[in-house]
Amino acid sequence: MQFDTPATTNPIDRLKVVGQPIHRIDGERKTTGRAIYAYEWNDPNVSYAYGYPVGAAIPKGRIKSMDVSDAKKALGVLAVVTTLDVGDLKKGDFNTAKLFGGDQVQHYHQAIAVVVAETFEQARAAAALVRVDYAEEKGAFDLEKAMDTAAKPEESQEPDTAVGDFDAAFTSAPVTLDETYTTPDQSHCMMEPHASIAAWNGDELTVWTSSQMIDWWRSDLATTLGIDKEKLHLMSPFIGGGFGGKLFLRADAVLAAFGAKAAGRPVKVALPRPLMPNNTTHRPATIQRIRIGADRDGRITAIAHQSWSGDLPGGGPETAVNQTRLLYAGVNRMTAMRLAALDLPEGNAMRAPGEAPGLMALEIAIDEMAEKLAMDPVQFRILNDTQVDPENPERPFSQRNLIGCLELGAERFGWNQRRGPGSRRDGNWLIGVGVAAAFRNNLLVPSGARVRLDREGIVTVETDMTDIGTGSYTIIAQTAAEMLGLPIDKVAVRLGDSRFPVSAGSGGQFGGNCSTAGVYAACVKLREAIAQKLGFNSEDVVFENGQVRSGNRAVPLAEAAGSDGLAGEDTIQWGDLSKTHQQSTFGAHFVEVGVDVATGETRIRRMLAVCAAGRILNPITARSQVIGAMTMGVGGALYEELAVDTRSGFFVNHDLAGYEVPVHADIPHQEVIFMNETDPMSSPMKAKGVGELGLCGVSAAIANAIYNATGIRVRHYPITLDKLIGGLPDVA
Ligand code: MOS
Repeated sequence: MQFDTPATTNPIDRLKVVGQPIHRIDGERKTTGRAIYAYEWNDPNVSYAYGYPVGAAIPKGRIKSMDVSDAKKALGVLAVVTTLDVGDLKKGDFNTAKLFGGDQVQHYHQAIAVVVAETFEQARAAAALVRVDYAEEKGAFDLEKAMDTAAKPEESQEPDTAVGDFDAAFTSAPVTLDETYTTPDQSHCMMEPHASIAAWNGDELTVWTSSQMIDWWRSDLATTLGIDKEKLHLMSPFIGGGFGGKLFLRADAVLAAFGAKAAGRPVKVALPRPLMPNNTTHRPATIQRIRIGADRDGRITAIAHQSWSGDLPGGGPETAVNQTRLLYAGVNRMTAMRLAALDLPEGNAMRAPGEAPGLMALEIAIDEMAEKLAMDPVQFRILNDTQVDPENPERPFSQRNLIGCLELGAERFGWNQRRGPGSRRDGNWLIGVGVAAAFRNNLLVPSGARVRLDREGIVTVETDMTDIGTGSYTIIAQTAAEMLGLPIDKVAVRLGDSRFPVSAGSGGQFGGNCSTAGVYAACVKLREAIAQKLGFNSEDVVFENGQVRSGNRAVPLAEAAGSDGLAGEDTIQWGDLSKTHQQSTFGAHFVEVGVDVATGETRIRRMLAVCAAGRILNPITARSQVIGAMTMGVGGALYEELAVDTRSGFFVNHDLAGYEVPVHADIPHQEVIFMNETDPMSSPMKAKGVGELGLCGVSAAIANAIYNATGIRVRHYPITLDKLIGGLPDVA
């Protein structure tokens, strides 16, 4: 189905199932431990072996030799495969760094061997016996030092934009801001580690893995192993979180494939937690300079956002200026990104790549500007709203209700009780409130599905879409149920299998809208097949209450299916609506914090998010996405930082003891409100995404609340106690 004109009324608009607060259809399996994750596949007839990875102990250089003789002799060891044994392997399309193969080390903890043994413990013990002789080379690990050498990334990455005359407008503006903000490297820290089981059958390979993007993985694994993609079967039906860390093929799958070949048995490989931050990808650190000029009434006349980040040679920038191109009005504007070559592990996508760190900076800057103008920060944002793409004013937004989010949020939150910095106190706590805008683009990716109706009247949906904890199973079932006029328990959903039609996958908050739109398209085909079989005119059939009806004739779906059943398959393809119209999602975050007047310890007291993101397909799963994202924003504001050892070139705190994320006790109260909105430009579902929107802006709202509580402006994340304690008021 080609989607190139705005959606009109369609069966989804009935909202009997779609849009309803339906609990996850996979919830029971997950809470009772019957949802099988990658590492847990257990065929009782198979004797699995266990692979344990070895990571490089240098950040850059060459492996001169490896001595695996002791490892091979260790108890229970079946095979040892080293990066030298397999020689240079082809790199897939999606990673910057090689995952395995050859003698070159590009980053610390790069996989250089896998030890396969009868048990996990034996493999781990033997892995410690692998001895490596390196020729280490000097590398660059310090973003600040590398700023001078940072270059303009490739044009395809849109490094620079400019409209009007920023410099002249900024110089002549009566009120200006020029500040620099920094965000650190961050790690995804999803609960389930990267894990794969590989099983060879002749030249055919089956891999159970944990992947957000089945087809990308399949292509890249086939390329890396040098086998035909058709010989490779991937399964990833349940995923314990990804946040972008499982978008691309990772070393566990490659090591499992080589390990299984060498051992002659299926092999399980999980990346040990302490290997993950340096072996896999991370969100790159940024240095961001923001300049804003406004007239005395608070209208922005000039806005500039420059961002510096680093990556391995051949990588890309963290696109932290993205939202600044679209969020606020202002006739004179510029954005620029510069990329430094660093020899740290590969930087890549992590939840809301670009906007998440970009808004961490921009939304503090906006708070600072409002203060300079003596304006309320909610009013300042409203005044500078734009209904068109400010870089291309002839291009409108498909929907944009940022103002509604800010106004409703302010009312519900009790924003009018806000006082000046450092003026509210509750016992030992300095109390403050903060606000930030949320913004994330709506991306459209082709997505396919197959839908079958059987003689029992059960509809089965098959697509290689994944559910990374987001609720894909449920919203896909809701979509098929709505399209065919069935209750949700008459729909079965099968995901994450490379034998199913290629979907959008889970990424960039496009999965919900795009995968359900693909299911919609397949259901249209199935409806046509049903109507045709019954001799109905497909224009005027109604699918309702388990029946298909036309005029005064009604047939139960089970009967319509016949003994062989009927199927429909299609892929949604996108026309120009995202070019003619800017499609984005909007929100407003409000946060109240308490800062301990003696220690500087910050505690979240309450959080509210108001989101305008098209049709909400399921308010329960959508809310879960947003509160999870808000929680991640607390981590970004207060705790999360991969500490770079700038001499040795690695992330020091590479486990969950040293890299801190929020836990339940850190998050006392969260509320989410969805604006009642549909966007006919976004898809036949009229939905967008919320999974990343919920993270965008939260950390800045917390930074602004800390400022309101203490009068201390921190521009460098995370906002830890040491950055506050020197500026706190004297406590007698
Ligand atoms: Mo997202 S960072 O595209 O999983």
